[in-house]
Amino acid sequence: AAAGLPTTSLDLRNTDTGEPLDLSMAQEEGRDTPGVKKFFQTGVDPYLEDKSCLKKGEIIYLESCSGCHGHVGEGKIGPGLNDDYWTYPKNETDQGLFETIFGGARAQMGPHYDLTLDEILKVMAWVRHLYKDDVKHAPWLTDAQKKSFRPFKVGEKFPEDAPGMCAADRT
Ligand code: HEM
Ligand code: CA
Repeated sequence: AAAGLPTTSLDLRNTDTGEPLDLSMAQEEGRDTPGVKKFFQTGVDPYLEDKSCLKKGEIIYLESCSGCHGHVGEGKIGPGLNDDYWTYPKNETDQGLFETIFGGARAQMGPHYDLTLDEILKVMAWVRHLYKDDVKHAPWLTDAQKKSFRPFKVGEKFPEDAPGMCAADRT
């Protein structure tokens, strides 16, 4: 494996072509954070609904995604990301969503080698937080998360000192 990349048993594939993803394209930075290690072991994004990660995820989303997908994921030139319909059903899983963001899909949905692996996990957490439809159709949430999930509301604030996995690297 390339320097700093945690080992993974996940079979990560391009969403459009099905070809294996080239993880060596990932930024050197942010490769072996606790979150990336955990995701590479489990295929589950440990940052989902972690309030210490959501603000950073929002910033990345607004910089890199909202121009095409809309400010709250409502869709623009790219499809809506805050609802329960997916062009690629695999995006209902964290692994699938990671594959689509890292490797891209079709047309203007290019790969995101500009983001670190850790940033991709954070932006995924934000995309999941924007979800506005029935939690019954949100298989990416655990049963406990389904119970406590409150959809994003414009103006929602997160405490600066929220405990969680991203507390150490909050800027
Ligand atoms: C498709 C996420 C940036 C344009 C998608 C899909 C996801 C996604 C999850 C698949 C949706 C589905 O299955 O229904 C993101 C995220 C971004 C990002 C998280 C930022 C990191 C962009 C940008 C553009 C763009 C910057 C425009 C330049 C598109 C288009 C599609 C798409 C046109 C449809 C592609 C297809 O159907 O194969 N995006 N996207 N996206 N996105 Fe993005
Ligand atoms: Ca959709």
